Amino acid sequence: MAQFPAQRMRRLREQPTMRRMAQETRLSPSDFIYPLFVTHGRNVRREVPAMPGVHQISLDHLLREVEETAQLGIPGVLLFGLPSKKDETGTEAYDKNGIVQEAIRVIKKAAPDMLVIGDVCLCEYTSHGHCGIVAGGAVDNDKTLDLLGKMAVVQADAGADVVAPSAMMDGQVGAIRAALDKAGHKNTAILGYSAKYASGFYGPFRVAADSAPQFGDRRGYQMDPASARQAMREIEQDIEEGADMVMVKPALAYLDVIAKARERFDLPLAAYNVSGEYSMVKAAAENEWIDGRRVTMEILTAIKRAGADMLITYHAKEASEWLRGNGL
Ligand code: PBG
Repeated sequence: MAQFPAQRMRRLREQPTMRRMAQETRLSPSDFIYPLFVTHGRNVRREVPAMPGVHQISLDHLLREVEETAQLGIPGVLLFGLPSKKDETGTEAYDKNGIVQEAIRVIKKAAPDMLVIGDVCLCEYTSHGHCGIVAGGAVDNDKTLDLLGKMAVVQADAGADVVAPSAMMDGQVGAIRAALDKAGHKNTAILGYSAKYASGFYGPFRVAADSAPQFGDRRGYQMDPASARQAMREIEQDIEEGADMVMVKPALAYLDVIAKARERFDLPLAAYNVSGEYSMVKAAAENEWIDGRRVTMEILTAIKRAGADMLITYHAKEASEWLRGNGL
C-alpha cells in the first residue's frame, strides 16, 4: 500500500463535485416508503403528538396526501388504520369494509401506480392492544394465524399490492401465503417484518395508532434487542415460509442487524426508521440543538449504507423534497 505523501485521501474530498462522484451511497425518493394513518370520519387531519408533520387523516384527505407522495417520486405507502371500535378479536381488521380496506380502494382507484402496502397486525384493532388473540392472559400464536390470514385476504381483495405482517407470530408468513393463494391472490407479495425488536422506539407510534398494550408488553413475541443471530433465524424462516421481502425494525439502533442481513440474504431488504427515531430528530431540531435536515439525511444515508434497499420513513416526503432541491 502506498504511504503518505503518495497517498492522499483528501484528494477525493477537496471539491464538492469530486465528493459527489466518489460517493458510495446515494439516496433517492424511490428508496422510500411513506407510512400513513387512516381514520374514520370526514375532514380529519389530526397531528400526532410527538410526531410533527405526521397526521391521522380521514379518507377525504387521503387522495391529496397520496398525490403529493407520488409527485415526489415515492413509490409506496404503508397503511395503518384506526378502527371505529375495538374488541377482543380485532374484528375491523378483517372486515371487508374496515378502514384500511376502504383506504386501499380509494388509493388504487385514483392512483393505481402507487404501491399500497397493508400492515397486517391486530394491535390497532383489539381492545387489549396486543398483536393477537389473548387467551389466559397470553397471546395465543396459532389462533392468531387464522385472523392474520383473513386480514391479508381482505386487504388483497381491496387491491393491496403487498401485505406486511408485523405481529411477530411464528408461522405468520406461511399462514398468510396459504390464505392468499387459497383466495386466488397468488401475485400479492409479502413483506415480512421478520426481525422486529421489542423496542422503546415505538412509543410515539402507539399514540398515533392508538395501539399500546393495555397489560404487559410485547417481549413475549417481539425480539430481544440484545440478540442479532436470532434475527438471522427469523429472516431465514420468513424466507422459507414464502416472504418476498424482509425487514429489520427499528433501523437506527440496529444497523449491525441490517448489515448482517444484507450480507446473508439476497431478497429485497427493508428497514423501518420508526416513530421514536423520527421524534428524537424533530424534538432536537425544534430546540435548535441539531440541524434537523442534515441529521435526517445522515440517518437515512446510514440506513441505506448499512444495506437496506427500502426505507420506511416518516421523513419520506421532506427528504424527497430536499433531494430534489439539491438536484441529486
Ligand atoms: C404494529 C406495529 C408497530 C409499529 C409498526 N407496526 C408497533 C408495535 O409493534 O408496537 C411501529 C412503527 C413505529 O414506531 O413507527 N404491530
